[in-house]
Amino acid sequence: MAQRPKVGGKTYHLLLAPGDVPRYILLPGDPGRVPLIAKHWTEAREVARNREFVTWVGSYKGTAVGATSTGIGSGSTAIAVEELLYAGADTFIRVGTTGALRREIRLGDLIIGTAAVRFDGASRWYAPPEYPAVAHWLVVKALVEAAESLGVRHHVGVVASTDSFYVGQERPGHGGFMPPWSKGLIETLRGLRVLSFEMESATIFTLASIYGARAGGVYAAIANRETDEFTPEVGVEEAVKVANEAVKILAEYDRKSGAGP
Ligand code: URA
Repeated sequence: MAQRPKVGGKTYHLLLAPGDVPRYILLPGDPGRVPLIAKHWTEAREVARNREFVTWVGSYKGTAVGATSTGIGSGSTAIAVEELLYAGADTFIRVGTTGALRREIRLGDLIIGTAAVRFDGASRWYAPPEYPAVAHWLVVKALVEAAESLGVRHHVGVVASTDSFYVGQERPGHGGFMPPWSKGLIETLRGLRVLSFEMESATIFTLASIYGARAGGVYAAIANRETDEFTPEVGVEEAVKVANEAVKILAEYDRKSGAGP
C-alpha cells in the first residue's frame, strides 16, 4: 500500500506528529478564529501553522483541548480530519457560521447539527451517497446541554453542507449565473426541514463515523435566506463559548463512563 506523505515525521499539511493534539478538537473554518477560541483557555499555545491549517492546544476548565482551522469546504476539511486523527484526536466539534433557511431562526441564533445533507465533494470518495452524515449523539447532547446552561437561543436539526457558497447555496454567480439544478434548492431543502447551509459538516460527520470517532457541530446564523438578512460574525462568540463548554461536558461524560468513542 502507498505510504502517506510525511515531512520530518509530521503530517504533510497540518505538520502534526502523533501526540501533538489532545482528543477533543474544535474545528473552525477560519484560521483567525483559532485564537478567538483559545482566548477562553489556559496554557494556550500554537503548535503548527501551514496554509489554511492553524493548530493551537490548551486547557479549558481542566480539560486538554485543541483547535484547528479547516479552511472552507470539503477538500481541506477532509485533510484536516485525516491528519488530526493521526495526531491523536477522536472527538471533533465544528464551530462555524451558517445561512438559516427558516424565518424563525434569527440572526445570531445558534444551530446544533444532528446530521448534514451530503452536498460536499470529499465524502463521496469515502462512502456511497446512501451513507448518512450523522453527528455523534453524545456530542449533540453535550452541545445542547452547553447551549442550555449558557442560556443561548438555539435550534437543533439537519443542516446542508455544500462545497459552493454561491450557486451551490442558490446565490447568483458572476453576472447572475444560476444553473438549473440550483434553482429551487432552498425551497426543496425547506420542504425537507433542513435548517441551514454550511460547508464542512457533512465531511467531518462522515469521516468521523467511518473511523469510529465522534463529531458534532454548532453554527452561528449570520444569514437568513428567507428574510435576506446578513450580518457577519453575529453569534460567533456564543458558538465558541458553547463549543468550549461542550468539551468540558463531554470530558465529564467520558470520565464517568470510562469509555471513549
Ligand atoms: N456559511 C454558509 O455556508 N452560508 C451562509 O449563508 C452563511 C455562512
